[in-house]
Amino acid sequence: MSEEIERREFLKKGWMAGAGLIGVAGIWTTWDVLQPGESAGFGGEVRTIPEEAVPQDGVVAVPAARAYLTSIDGEVVAVSETCPHLGCRVPWCESSGQFECPCHGSIFNRKGEAREGPTPRGMSRYPVQIIDGLVIVNTGEPEEGEPMGTAETIDEPKRGPSCAEGSH
Ligand code: FES
Repeated sequence: MSEEIERREFLKKGWMAGAGLIGVAGIWTTWDVLQPGESAGFGGEVRTIPEEAVPQDGVVAVPAARAYLTSIDGEVVAVSETCPHLGCRVPWCESSGQFECPCHGSIFNRKGEAREGPTPRGMSRYPVQIIDGLVIVNTGEPEEGEPMGTAETIDEPKRGPSCAEGSH
């Protein structure tokens, strides 16, 4: 009989402890979710990758920011992936070392400056901050690229075949 009571008591305490843990987890999760996020998602500040992971002679895509990161003269630059012409996503072409829009053939250098094609201007750029070694991209404040025909500010000519070449 007393063994039965001990067993019930044990089960009751176990159940209460479990319920308590679930409650604590729920409160913690709610608190965590409601914290002002440093990473607000696209349209706000987006936490991306460590500064040292940003390439010096290429680009890295950061899909959460809909942008590419590259390092130019030691400074991280965030280039919007959206073509200023009609909004296609512009891929980076490794062989040519330039952005090449697949829709109507606009070409941009590594900094997003317009090189050729129907685009009226260069790709937009986002302000960047480095916080605790991490690149934070402010996607809420895009800065329009310079108009087509503006001189390029980096000396990086096309380095090889375009990605569009040979795909026909
Ligand atoms: S959308 Fe990129 S060239 Fe037209």
